[in-house]
Amino acid sequence: MTAIPIIIDCDPGIDDTIALLTAFVSAELEILGITPVCGNQPLDRTVRNALQVCELGDRTDIPVYAGCFRPMFRDPIYGQFHGKNGLGNTTLPEPVKVAESKSAVDFLIDTLTAAAVLQKRVTICCLGPMTNLAVALRMKPQIAEGIEQVVMMGGAYREPGNRTITSEFNVLADPHAAHVVFASGIKIVALALDATHQVMLKPEHVAQFSKVSGRISETLAELMAFWDRNDVRRYGSRGGPLHDPLVIAYLLSPDLFETQPARVFVEHESELCMGQTIADWYGKSGLEPNAEIVTRVDADGVIALFLDRLSRYAEEVVA
Ligand code: RIB
Ligand code: CA
Repeated sequence: MTAIPIIIDCDPGIDDTIALLTAFVSAELEILGITPVCGNQPLDRTVRNALQVCELGDRTDIPVYAGCFRPMFRDPIYGQFHGKNGLGNTTLPEPVKVAESKSAVDFLIDTLTAAAVLQKRVTICCLGPMTNLAVALRMKPQIAEGIEQVVMMGGAYREPGNRTITSEFNVLADPHAAHVVFASGIKIVALALDATHQVMLKPEHVAQFSKVSGRISETLAELMAFWDRNDVRRYGSRGGPLHDPLVIAYLLSPDLFETQPARVFVEHESELCMGQTIADWYGKSGLEPNAEIVTRVDADGVIALFLDRLSRYAEEVVA
């Protein structure tokens, strides 16, 4: 089996962390790099959190490249539900690992340029605002030839927003970047709230995940308990949506997901609807679809997949 080369663009972030930890133990994925961005937290914090999670998951071999300090145009808005440091109430050891000197944008440009030449195109997993990828595309549009697909968590189509009435956080945090990426012509798989709200991390899942995950179980339980409490307050629901991990689950088991093509537009001018993602499902715009929007998720299948992967932290590492 040839591993899928991926870059994980993220803003850790509790759910980003669960996505990273799942990817770390999945041999189907060759993680070329992690590119934190300003999103849930300011950049210095998302970089630090990414470094700490690499150490938690024993994957300090994966390079981390600091991304954009702020969105392309609008002011940063930061996340509200990931605790004071972006990792709930969890305190991880000071990271020994440091970020690379190269910026995330330069890493994306260099890596995707080489991928196009080598015909070994890379999948970009976007778990936060898409500033890094948008800026790289603005600097060198040809890098699109080195991208297999973008699998992104963000947007809300038939669901209401989770940060404003209309808009989901990742797209709202940098709507101009989202507009650039959706207009790029690159193949996009969109995991919006329509998909992620089908997979709620319930208390029984928190118990199961922490039970199976061996040496990371205590940290994982802390993170998930914090995440679970949020959404009780916000949605009155028992459990928090597993947003970002679904991007990794999609790559590992696309059969657990159903998609529908649509032309997606991103509102980046209106004050009321800033960051809204609008899907033209039936071609009324006269434009070709630019995304496959995930419309259905096999939630039980996804939970089972996460249990399987996280349990690998309990298995003895064969030297
Ligand atoms: O709206 C959910 C998204 O916003 C997730 O990526 C979460 O980490 C936050 O960044
Ligand atoms: Ca995120």
